[in-house]
Amino acid sequence: MLKVEGLSVAYDGLKALEGVTFEVREGEFLALIGSNGAGKSTLLNTLSGLLKPLAGTITLDGERIDHLRPADIVDRGLILIPEGKWVFPQMSVKENLLMGAYPRRCHKRQKEMLEQVYTHFPRLKERERQMAHTLSGGELQMLVIGRGLMAQPRLLLLDEPSLGLAPRLVLETFEVLQTLHRSLGLSILLAEQDVSHALRISSRAIVLENGRLVMTGNSADLLTDPEVKVRYLGM
Ligand SMILES: Nc1ncnc2c1ncn2[C@@H]1O[C@H](COP(=O)(O)OP(=O)(O)O)[C@@H](O)[C@H]1O
Ligand SMILES: [Mg+2]
Repeated sequence: MLKVEGLSVAYDGLKALEGVTFEVREGEFLALIGSNGAGKSTLLNTLSGLLKPLAGTITLDGERIDHLRPADIVDRGLILIPEGKWVFPQMSVKENLLMGAYPRRCHKRQKEMLEQVYTHFPRLKERERQMAHTLSGGELQMLVIGRGLMAQPRLLLLDEPSLGLAPRLVLETFEVLQTLHRSLGLSILLAEQDVSHALRISSRAIVLENGRLVMTGNSADLLTDPEVKVRYLGM
């Protein structure tokens, strides 16, 4: 579905990604793991068209997308849920969700998508009139994921959804992702520092270190890999 080949990205001449090659298969749940500063956000932002690569190609269903504008990439169903749970603070939950359906192709099914989001997140339905800035951390996380769903993703990119959440909410968030993956057949690329959880819910994983891909494998195998254990699982 998504093919990344030889991708290099730099900030003011300083390389943040170098020669990154991998693919996301149709319907796959792929984890992107790596410690702080490894290049996870840089990679997701480049896939979304927010950063332009220095070298390499990004192909979605056979079409080069690395030269497209972010809005055109969204139009092709590649949706990023960025780090930091940003919402429109003075807008209600429902208004925030509707903002997610801004691509023109989403207008027709807006109501249907809203109902679908409410089915997955009943708490958002209960609070649909509440101002977004009054939500708890866990509710905000649901809102930003729900807003991403409103854009009818085919491939959902998530940048560290666990960040700043209490352990119970991390688990809840990951369970929701797994449900979305299974029930909607959604392809997911999940960037995480919470390696233990990420490997438990994904089927495959890629590992970034200092901007380079150093490992690729089945998540179950990586969970028992001695090097992964020492470096990322503190065992
Ligand atoms: N806007 C930026 N300007 C300059 N350097 C950046 C910028 N964003 C990230 N970097 C650098 O790129 C590298 C990768 O960062 P990032 O992609 O944010 O990693 P991660 O998301 O894995 O923590 C780091 O060395 C970071 O300092
Ligand atoms: Mg990051």
